[in-house]
Amino acid sequence: MCGIVGYTGPRQASRILVEGLKRLEYRGYDSAGIAVLKGGPIAAGERPLVVIKRKGKIAELRKAVPKDLAGSSGIGHTRWATHGSVTDANAHPHTDVSGKIAIVHNGIIENYVPLKEMLEKEGAVFLSETDSEVIAHLVAYHYDGDLESALKAALGHMRGTYGIAAMHADEPGRIVGARNGSPLVLGVGDGEMLLASDVTALLAHTTNVVYLNDGEVVSMTPTDFRISDRDDQAVDPRIDQITWKLGAIEKGRFSCFMEKEIFEQPESIERALTGRLDMEYGSAKLGGLNLAKKDLHAIERVRVIAAGTSWHAGLVGCQLLESVARLPAQAELASELRYRNPVVEAHSLYLAVSQSGETADTLYAMREIQRRGGAVLGICNVVGSTIARESDGGIYVHSGPEIAVASTKAFTSQLAAFYLLTLSLARMHDMSHHEGERFLEELKAAPEAVRRSLQQRDHIQAIAKRYARFHDFLFLGRGLLYPIALEGALKLKEISYIHAEGYASGEIKHGPIALISPETPSLFLVPNDHLREKTITNMKEIKARGGPIIAVAQEGDDLVASIADEYIPVPAVDSLFQPFVMVPPLQLFAYFCALELGRDVDQPRNLAKSVTVE
Ligand code: AGP
Repeated sequence: MCGIVGYTGPRQASRILVEGLKRLEYRGYDSAGIAVLKGGPIAAGERPLVVIKRKGKIAELRKAVPKDLAGSSGIGHTRWATHGSVTDANAHPHTDVSGKIAIVHNGIIENYVPLKEMLEKEGAVFLSETDSEVIAHLVAYHYDGDLESALKAALGHMRGTYGIAAMHADEPGRIVGARNGSPLVLGVGDGEMLLASDVTALLAHTTNVVYLNDGEVVSMTPTDFRISDRDDQAVDPRIDQITWKLGAIEKGRFSCFMEKEIFEQPESIERALTGRLDMEYGSAKLGGLNLAKKDLHAIERVRVIAAGTSWHAGLVGCQLLESVARLPAQAELASELRYRNPVVEAHSLYLAVSQSGETADTLYAMREIQRRGGAVLGICNVVGSTIARESDGGIYVHSGPEIAVASTKAFTSQLAAFYLLTLSLARMHDMSHHEGERFLEELKAAPEAVRRSLQQRDHIQAIAKRYARFHDFLFLGRGLLYPIALEGALKLKEISYIHAEGYASGEIKHGPIALISPETPSLFLVPNDHLREKTITNMKEIKARGGPIIAVAQEGDDLVASIADEYIPVPAVDSLFQPFVMVPPLQLFAYFCALELGRDVDQPRNLAKSVTVE
């Protein structure tokens, strides 16, 4: 969603801001802008703050920013429209009437209507339809020579969520930021400071970062910064190191990030497993859980809270926990749970699963559980993200930065985390040492099995070329492969805009079969266990009604190959580990369909990488 970058230091701010915004493109946006405090002499009548905003891509903004724009401090923003349409005027930064104050804002100011009415009575003139513009006028209303106190006073009026960066022409070199429910991270450079909503915008300049907490305000100059909390008390900053390498946020030899991330999966799964396989005890080592053995042993049930792809990983995880660790487990949609007045049971373990660690629905559901006394562990990718910091412990999945909006490598790393957790809990109960060792052997082999599954690339591309112009698809799976079918359908929808529904294969007779015709292909995930024959029966039912079939099944399955119109073989692995090998073909199918249709694979329309508003 929206992104923020701020810079103050000796260098040309406009370049750093535009380049930083470019790094945030992946979050999803529809317009962008910067405000720079002009360097050099200011002519009479000239405004000291240069504000340039454009709807559309960063390339439009880049064209509009003069190459020689002087000025070494500024703020920038990518906007994902919520209040007001996509126009230059609604893009950020917003300024006050004097033009001396500029602000950028992520989040939503819920009470902006009465604030706007109050400010208009005080003489403010609004130039946009946004909720965010009230912040500029509120800061002006309170400004008395000190931007930090004016912003703090303005925050006192506001209800909602925000990550804000603000500057004032009379305080050159100072940028003030505030956070409440929308991430902000400070980059501490050598003689320069940066502020961003996401570390990817900082990585080219520094690896020293300070994550702001909700309620904190930072005031920074090129050589110094100060953080204070809601009570105006100074906060002792903790400087963290970002371990991601710059190369990880660049496309390299791939045509887009999604392609790169799909093919990175053998390594990213490997990273999720590294150091966590306890060969000696046939178990898993998960130090980050922060739970004593006896607390882990006392867990009676597990509940997962997540959204989208992370929820699909949770659905797989819950089946594993139930069938292998013999714990009742249920995956809940965070957006539902948070408003449902949930019963928080003793001896339940809650798991908040999130790639970004910033998804508003998951974060608020987690807080609601914690407020009721429940313990929540996080399964996150982004180190230092809000969910990772606010959870009571957890598992980092270490997939590295995931830039494409459609999640791929984070999903398989989340799966890896669930397999590890399942093993760890199962070994506390019924699973023997020997069974644990066998489980570990299969898990260790997962990266290589995924690598082999990805070798179907060209075959899948050829199939995608034939099928990309169909308008509707069914994705069908059973057992552990049912959530994988949901994930495959979501991938296809997200990036190709083809309508696709995921169903449990056994459910099609209960309604969806009415959709079957030569125009509606079904993509079957065929398990290699006791559910295989039942799935084949379902395939025949579709076939009898003229529906085209694409089947993903274990290599050498001649029967499936003879029934299906298209057959995608995947490596033979134990049925418990089939989710790993089944998902890459679906990711590739979605990717090649999207390519075939000329879609913007990395930044599909209307979507944002991290959904920080409801
Ligand atoms: C995945 O392809 C989607 N873009 C989306 O469903 C995503 O998984 C969801 O918004 C949750 O995000 P999170 O994992 O960062 O919490």
